[in-house]
Amino acid sequence: MRSRRSILAVPASNPRFLEKAQTLPADEVFLDLEDSVAPLAKEEARGNAVTALREGDWSGKTVAVRVNDLTTQWTYRDVIEVVEGAGDRLDCLIMPKVQDPTEVVWLDTLLTQIEKTMGYEVGRIGIEAQIENARGLVNVDAIAGSSPRLEALVFGPADFMASINMRTLVVGEQPPGYTEGDAYHYILMRLLMAARSHDLQVIDGPYLQIKDVEGYRRVAARAAALGFDGKWVLHPLQVDAANEVFSPSQEDYDHAELILEAYEHYTTVERRGAVMLGDEMIDEASRKMALVVAAKGRAAGL
Ligand code: GLV
Ligand code: MG
Repeated sequence: MRSRRSILAVPASNPRFLEKAQTLPADEVFLDLEDSVAPLAKEEARGNAVTALREGDWSGKTVAVRVNDLTTQWTYRDVIEVVEGAGDRLDCLIMPKVQDPTEVVWLDTLLTQIEKTMGYEVGRIGIEAQIENARGLVNVDAIAGSSPRLEALVFGPADFMASINMRTLVVGEQPPGYTEGDAYHYILMRLLMAARSHDLQVIDGPYLQIKDVEGYRRVAARAAALGFDGKWVLHPLQVDAANEVFSPSQEDYDHAELILEAYEHYTTVERRGAVMLGDEMIDEASRKMALVVAAKGRAAGL
């Protein structure tokens, strides 16, 4: 599985940002054709995206393009121009505002036709689906199971908050007046369950107060604690924060490796199922929990 702790959004209408993005340590970069690109700049942005994919140095990163959603007139040309022009350089397409599994099936079918026409390996290009409105969330289980190309579900908090009429203007923060609990808990858990039940990754969306790195960390830590794999970043300052928040601490990683070693020893050499590690009892379920932390730590190079 690809590492997706930090996913950097870059408007494809801005060649300077497209250059800069290649130098940042984000796990994934996506070239945006959707909401960060003005309607009059959409066509030029497609060309920029193809050029950046063909000529840029994206080594070490997952590279994706976000197309426009299916209620617009742009989606089919976005997909055809980008994938015909640079499909061999592209890891994933991001489909925004997905409301229904048929939208992902449409993209999967179109991708297959383009791959066949161009002589690319069929099925290599993945899909990430953004869940950004009430209908998308209600249909999220079916969406999560809609295509073998799906790699991740992505929460789109800005559009989502607008779609449900949440009374706030600050993306990711609690709505003023809501003092009990976390207004996002249900949505995040719903996405997490749908994603995990189909072995997909699950990603938190943007935090728009880009200068407030502490605010970013706080909101990212909330998603990381639940089990999310990563979060979008909109600014270089947020990249390191995301990579750190979505990697286990060195202490937790070391502890996880210790559990795995101890468990392996006791179950194979001593043939015992539940054993003590210091004051802690560990069993098969502990091993599974430790595996999750260890895998993330190894991927982060700890
Ligand atoms: C991202 O696309 C969002 O709407 O938050
Ligand atoms: Mg959105």
